[in-house]
Amino acid sequence: MYVIGLDLGTSALKGLVVDQSGKLVAEATEGYPLSTPQVGFSEQDPNDWLRAADQVLTDLIKQLPELKEQLVGISFSGQMHSLVLLDEANQPLRPAILWNDVRTTAQCQALTAEIGPMVLDHTKNVILEGFTLPKIRWVQENEPEIWQQVKQIQLPKDYLRFWLTGKFHMDYSDAAGTLLLNQDTQEWDQEILEAVNIDPTILPPLVASTAVVGTVKPELAECFGFTQAVQVIAGGADNACAAVGAGIVAPGVGMCSIGTSGVFLRYEDSAAKEYAGKLHLFAHAAEEVAYSMGVTLAAGSSLSWFKDTFAPEASFETLLGEIASVAPGSDGLLFTPYIVGERTPYSDSKIRGSFIGMDIHHRLSHFARSVLEGITFSLKDSQEIMAQATNEGLAKIVSVGGGAKNKEWLQMQANIFNTPITTLTTEQGPGMGAAMLAAVGCNWYPNVASCAADFVTYAGEYLPDPTVVAAYEEVYRRYRMVYPGTKPICD
Ligand code: XUL
Repeated sequence: MYVIGLDLGTSALKGLVVDQSGKLVAEATEGYPLSTPQVGFSEQDPNDWLRAADQVLTDLIKQLPELKEQLVGISFSGQMHSLVLLDEANQPLRPAILWNDVRTTAQCQALTAEIGPMVLDHTKNVILEGFTLPKIRWVQENEPEIWQQVKQIQLPKDYLRFWLTGKFHMDYSDAAGTLLLNQDTQEWDQEILEAVNIDPTILPPLVASTAVVGTVKPELAECFGFTQAVQVIAGGADNACAAVGAGIVAPGVGMCSIGTSGVFLRYEDSAAKEYAGKLHLFAHAAEEVAYSMGVTLAAGSSLSWFKDTFAPEASFETLLGEIASVAPGSDGLLFTPYIVGERTPYSDSKIRGSFIGMDIHHRLSHFARSVLEGITFSLKDSQEIMAQATNEGLAKIVSVGGGAKNKEWLQMQANIFNTPITTLTTEQGPGMGAAMLAAVGCNWYPNVASCAADFVTYAGEYLPDPTVVAAYEEVYRRYRMVYPGTKPICD
């Protein structure tokens, strides 16, 4: 028996086939374009996702023909917040407006003035450009003829699931990122819907991430050659699924994910924590719990920017290979990674990065080390907000993504976060979390935590070194002084 996890990302759709022991047995990826018709706009054609899913499923079946008889469930992970608007024939009315589209600053300001405190109280989040609600307001204001035709609001992976089942649903973890979900009641928030003129009938029914919401439609099942009913399981937001795939399903465990952007995420027993909007607080894909997260907008991209600009000939291995020769703190050189603005903790689109404290003896290796330190300090800012609000530290942080590929950087994370760091034996990203949701939906396990206990295995542990921890505490104190000092220059 097999399950499939489909991860609908920003640049590609990735499919993973997993067997009952949690082993990855096949994978396929299909890319699609992203269009930027104007500065700050970021859009995708929802039909490209469907074409990619069709191709990925076809490739997987080609690699593993027994899927036709032995595939029992499919689930999903998806880019969060991106707005898909469907007409009465269930066709997209316009390209999807993606999570990384920043056209909605004016809408965010207006909505914050009108209903900001109520939205924070009900959804636990502040109104940011990336989230769905301001995108809806933008369409209402700028494309009223399109808004009038909207019969259904979907997020990307929900539209993909609709293609497979013919039914509309949205799971709590993705709904939380729309700013339309009341996280106390886990229902669509009537007060917000009224305030922004959204007819509740254009929103899909809410379901748990592990809920079986249907089976693959007969006409598609026939196309793919499935000989039995393949169950379709709701799935979750990509950050929630990445957390599931990294085993972040119990108190005291956090995740540090460094890709283009960086995420510092922690398991929460419920969405009742008071972060006052300083962090995102979303429903988890694991049952009835939540997670908080902070975002560093330019994490891996600060490092690639640095390499492309100052050491284009060097490989990442050579560049990072030399950082071990530089002492923690980069001999007084500080870097702030605000090269595209910053989300957590400042929510400041105008701030820009800096190197501070350059000295005549600093070499490329000092700069490279300070870039890694600056990225890690920025993620520590999120960890600090969590620690202050909860008074609880983390017993362990699972490091994933680019930050988990370099041993020196992993040790640096252990020292800067002052927490043991571990990595995954095999890292498959949010698609594995989606496959795990399918495994639970198919009753292979009673819940997500028991599936994680079997499917997720760890390799290596990096322990904080008390001397270096103390040294980094002092460097971090100075790092924190750079933002208020540079803010007036960037405003
Ligand atoms: C989370 C966010 C991104 C997207 C990426 O708030 O905007 O991490 O989920 O797909």
